[in-house]
Amino acid sequence: MSYPIGCGMTLNMAMVAEVGSLAKELNLQWYSEHLSMFLVSNGSVPNSQAGLGLPVAYDEETFEIVSDKLRILRSAVGCDLLLENGAIFTPVPDSEMSEPEFLNRVYSELDCGTLLDLHNLYVGLLNGVLSPLEYLEKLNPDCVREIHLAGGHELAGFYTDAHSGGTPGEVWSWAYEFGPRFKNLRAIVFEFHESYFERLGLGGIAAELERMHELADAVASGTRPLENVARHVS
Ligand SMILES: [Fe+2]
Repeated sequence: MSYPIGCGMTLNMAMVAEVGSLAKELNLQWYSEHLSMFLVSNGSVPNSQAGLGLPVAYDEETFEIVSDKLRILRSAVGCDLLLENGAIFTPVPDSEMSEPEFLNRVYSELDCGTLLDLHNLYVGLLNGVLSPLEYLEKLNPDCVREIHLAGGHELAGFYTDAHSGGTPGEVWSWAYEFGPRFKNLRAIVFEFHESYFERLGLGGIAAELERMHELADAVASGTRPLENVARHVS
């Protein structure tokens, strides 16, 4: 839905009400939003589309903004809330906290879990923004309720979260390494855009689903199958 969760813009309450009624009709167990800005104020336009998710600065001011908006969203949807880490293409200067530190606080102080997009960590790695292993070591594993897998490609010198292919080997290795630590994990999602179907094909999608089942088994049994880590890194 792309609310402006992390910026100073106010929530569109008509949209919040619509999402709230849908959440109740569908009996949603949780509702997630990106921790990025898709809407920004631009001159006289109060809510122009940014075109892609822009990162937010992790500081006390942003934490207060997020806190207020989550309170409103929670009362509207009546279910658990998750925030998803976005695809970041450039470092954000002057942040007081790292992203996992921010998400840990959101979990412990605001009772809002994390939708961990592992491919977005890969985007950050390839664009020189973050170290996924450091990130995953810092993130409280109890935060994670859902994970996303995906593939992307390069555009204008940046690696993007285009949902255009199979999940890269490194992303699978992080999923196997850290997945069994996520004791509150309830969903594993492969994000793929249908316009790239010819590129991946039915066989590619079936292979992704097969691996996801293996991963789900590893998570459920709380084990870290080393043979799978090795196989998926290649
Ligand atoms: Fe995602």
